Amino acid sequence: MNSIYAQRRARLAAQLGAGSLAIIPTAPARPRNRDSEYLYRHDSYFYYLTGFTEPGACLLLDGAGRSTLFCQPKDLEREIWDGYRLGPDAAIATLGVDAALPLAQLDAELPRLLEGGQRLWYPFAIHDGLAARVEGWLNQVRARVRYGAVCPGQQSDLCQLLDEMRLIKDGHELDIMRRAGQISAQAHVRAMQRSARMLRAGQQVREYHLDAELLAAFREAGAQCPAYNSIVAAGANACVLHYRADCAPVRAGELVLIDAGCELDGYASDITRTFPADGRFSGPQRALYELVLASQQAAIAATRAGQRFTDPHDAAVAVLAQGMLDVGLLDRQRVGNAQDVIEQRAYFQFYMHRTGHWLGMDVHDCGSYIEPSELGQTSQRRDPLSGEMLTNRPSRILRPGMVLTIEPGIYVRPAPGVPEPFHHIGIRIEDDAVVTEGDCELLTRAVPVQPDEIEALMRQG
Ligand code: GLY
Ligand code: MN
Ligand code: MN
Repeated sequence: MNSIYAQRRARLAAQLGAGSLAIIPTAPARPRNRDSEYLYRHDSYFYYLTGFTEPGACLLLDGAGRSTLFCQPKDLEREIWDGYRLGPDAAIATLGVDAALPLAQLDAELPRLLEGGQRLWYPFAIHDGLAARVEGWLNQVRARVRYGAVCPGQQSDLCQLLDEMRLIKDGHELDIMRRAGQISAQAHVRAMQRSARMLRAGQQVREYHLDAELLAAFREAGAQCPAYNSIVAAGANACVLHYRADCAPVRAGELVLIDAGCELDGYASDITRTFPADGRFSGPQRALYELVLASQQAAIAATRAGQRFTDPHDAAVAVLAQGMLDVGLLDRQRVGNAQDVIEQRAYFQFYMHRTGHWLGMDVHDCGSYIEPSELGQTSQRRDPLSGEMLTNRPSRILRPGMVLTIEPGIYVRPAPGVPEPFHHIGIRIEDDAVVTEGDCELLTRAVPVQPDEIEALMRQG
């Protein structure tokens, strides 16, 4: 069998080295309270190598490419309660692994498989208790050294290899991410239209109405769940960066910030749109909105192969710094020109997060943000706000197939000197982009960003 999962296992095995064994568990089911569990979510590394979504499983892969899956055994009584289990016998044909055994045999098999090996790979600091289990397995091998057993002497972090593989998305992954982006975009359209429609009808709108609309759109399109906790923030709540959809009223005249994306077949999407609750931007709202949009456009233009990961951020900050002076959010007399605003990080008062992150199976996906080919090159700088000495390391060079978000914003809390018409306005615009040799591919533009287009769609539907 040569499925994408088998191909990934082969690519990983080729990097493990002779005499190596890799252990990749899936995630445990997590209790919520008493007999209830959180919605089960597999481990992303495990899924990347197996496509298998059941709990209670662990993949072993050796340097020769031989794969063994440990999984839940068939058990009619448990399957009556919890649902179908693939079971070891069917796993070989279905998942293309070389061998499959019941999970309960893992502890007995591991010391045997580790004996005589040189290196053990597993994801460091991902699975609670795994390091202790590894110690236990190695201890069992060591207990037999008097009888000639050889205990592996090296342990390595498997994340280092898998993160690099996951950072460049293959065609299969990009297809899913395109569909996830479409579904999430449609959900945002529905939430915008719902807000305007209810307000037009004289109904009271609350954040949870819009949250419900998003969720319905995700599920009706076949997405399994939100990729992260949806933010639906009305009015001043938009200035709370990690706000959750709650019950605050959504009022005409205020903006609503929605940061929500579905997870489809294990892949995340991540969209933010900010729109007027009743479908019409006020003057100050539009001024700041257009500034954030211009900064996002600059960041999008800087997102292409050969650029650095930090280039879109720097491009967005340059536009925001100038714009904050132009609209009067920052006072030239106090902070100087745009260059000063950037050097002194004065923009940080209103823009305090980065412009993006890797996106993939995890919403903040894995992958180093440092360019591996330039790892040793460091320099020091003093942070102008905290006074701390920080280490500069060369930022990652963007390559085709990397996927990242582009999400500048402005969040205005009242403070001395901040013009009152801007108080409590929070705006972020976030899209998901695939790096190509040319212009990046935006996966999430089925929901518009232009203010006129947002107003137009909110008049319909
Ligand atoms: N929704 C999480 C983020 O934008 O980073
Ligand atoms: Mn994001
Ligand atoms: Mn987001």
